[in-house]
Amino acid sequence: MAVTLRPQDKLRTPKPVNKPPRMSLPWPLNLYQTAIGKKWVMALTGLGLIGFVVAHMVGNLHLYEGPVEVHEYAEALRDLGGHIIPRTYLLWLLRLGLLAMFGLHIHSAVSLSRMSAISNTKYQAPRDFAAANFASRTMRWTGPIIALFILYHLADLTWGWFDDDWVRGDPYGNADRSLSRIPVAIFYVVANIALAVHLFHGIFSMFTSLGWNSPKFNPLRRPVALGIAGLILLGNLSFPIMVQAGVIEEETPLEILLEQHEEAEASQ
Ligand code: HEM
Repeated sequence: MAVTLRPQDKLRTPKPVNKPPRMSLPWPLNLYQTAIGKKWVMALTGLGLIGFVVAHMVGNLHLYEGPVEVHEYAEALRDLGGHIIPRTYLLWLLRLGLLAMFGLHIHSAVSLSRMSAISNTKYQAPRDFAAANFASRTMRWTGPIIALFILYHLADLTWGWFDDDWVRGDPYGNADRSLSRIPVAIFYVVANIALAVHLFHGIFSMFTSLGWNSPKFNPLRRPVALGIAGLILLGNLSFPIMVQAGVIEEETPLEILLEQHEEAEASQ
């Protein structure tokens, strides 16, 4: 039986799923030109960034000990590497690694979302919006909020742009003065909630990106993601709240505290 094609049945030339890369890079860089390679880079840099966020939150708990202890902690970071390599070299190496991870994480996220936007969606199955939960739909705005927060955070605490009384080497006093301002404390609370939502979805989807998919472990993905994001949120929210409550407060300038500390140590 002859089949007559109606105009709407005519085959259309399918568009390529992704724009072909302008030029093919040598191995292993060419892996980054594929969606799966970008997903791996996003997942692995995400893992490194989670390591930083956990270490930073735990390090900031020194704020509950006092200005001298926070100063000594900051000095210990500069002294990383002991007497084997010059002071601050290892810290700068870690900072460069952190910067590279931030850069690659953002680049892979942006180019993956571009790839998905230009892909041929004609054959896409209907989207299950119930499955695209709150956290996954919010990655696009939690990411930029975190990036803005980090820029502000560095300008404020590391470079002292917004505080005339900023003192190099006194992170306790600098953090205290900064978080005493109500708008800043509110910004910290908002940004850290955005960070927790971002981390929850990031950790959850990292398992899939890295292919760690097994019916045995899948039920653990949600509690693990919730546990890590929840702990970081709890610790990080405590700092602006405790500064506002007056629990974290530099009453005596660090210089005087350090003199008293040295005298006490010498008399022992
Ligand atoms: C929530 C409460 C937080 C407090 C109280 C806090 C406090 C601090 C302090 C005191 C410094 C040292 C500034 C200096 O003397 O150079 C610092 C540095 C930094 N913080 Fe935070 N931080 C918080 C959250 C975060 C978060 C959520 C991130 C990232 C997502 C972050 C990223 C950084 C980075 C990248 C540095 C620079 C590290 C370096 O120079 O080696 N911080 N923070």
